[in-house]
Amino acid sequence: MADAIDGQEFWDERFATEDYVFGTQPNAFLVREAHRLEPGSRVLAVADGEGRNSVFLAKHGHKVVATDISERALEKADRLAAKSGVEIQFVQTDLASWAWPENAFDAVVAIFIQFSAPQVRERIFEDISKTLKPGGLLLLEGYRPEQLAFGTGGPPSAENMYTEAMLREAFGALEIELLEGYDAEISEGKGHPGMSALIDLIARRPS
Ligand SMILES: C[S@@+](CC[C@H](N)C(=O)[O-])C[C@H]1O[C@@H](n2cnc3c(N)ncnc32)[C@H](O)[C@@H]1O
Repeated sequence: MADAIDGQEFWDERFATEDYVFGTQPNAFLVREAHRLEPGSRVLAVADGEGRNSVFLAKHGHKVVATDISERALEKADRLAAKSGVEIQFVQTDLASWAWPENAFDAVVAIFIQFSAPQVRERIFEDISKTLKPGGLLLLEGYRPEQLAFGTGGPPSAENMYTEAMLREAFGALEIELLEGYDAEISEGKGHPGMSALIDLIARRPS
């Protein structure tokens, strides 16, 4: 089941529309928490698709590297960046096999990156922890298993969802500053419409 949402073909097809599938406005959790980033931070936005979060970060003066597996998504992200008058370094890659730079970023932003089966996800989470510089910050939002009942977006299988216990263990190398599950109404294009079972993690690599 998880494989179906973890391939370039699937996502290129999903993004083959003039619409921005997840909208052009940044994720609400990111907007709420972006004040935690130091001015001019070097930020990695992982799997940022059509670029809504990367563009928001770049508009706020951060130096942004944005990755995604989908070429179509990155073309749209590039257009959004140009329209917004910001520069972003785009990298087309599969995060499961990317040569992650170590100790490289002041922050990692990971918004709805629930495409991987548990074993691959575990590796990606380790790579996220290592790509942060000492003192670097992770901002991550995803869905909890309860999202399956809401049916308002996200992967179709429970194994892709996050729980507090799972995130606490997966990011054991980081110091957790906030870990909170809650339900909220979100409006992120046609992709994420309505009441959603969310979980937010803010964690820092020890200095
Ligand atoms: C639900 S979308 C979220 C996009 C973006 N983070 C946002 O909040 O708008 C998931 C994204 O993950 C990307 N993706 C899926 N599998 C991937 C992989 N193996 N490596 C990198 N990106 C991947 C998709 O192309 C898609 O853009």
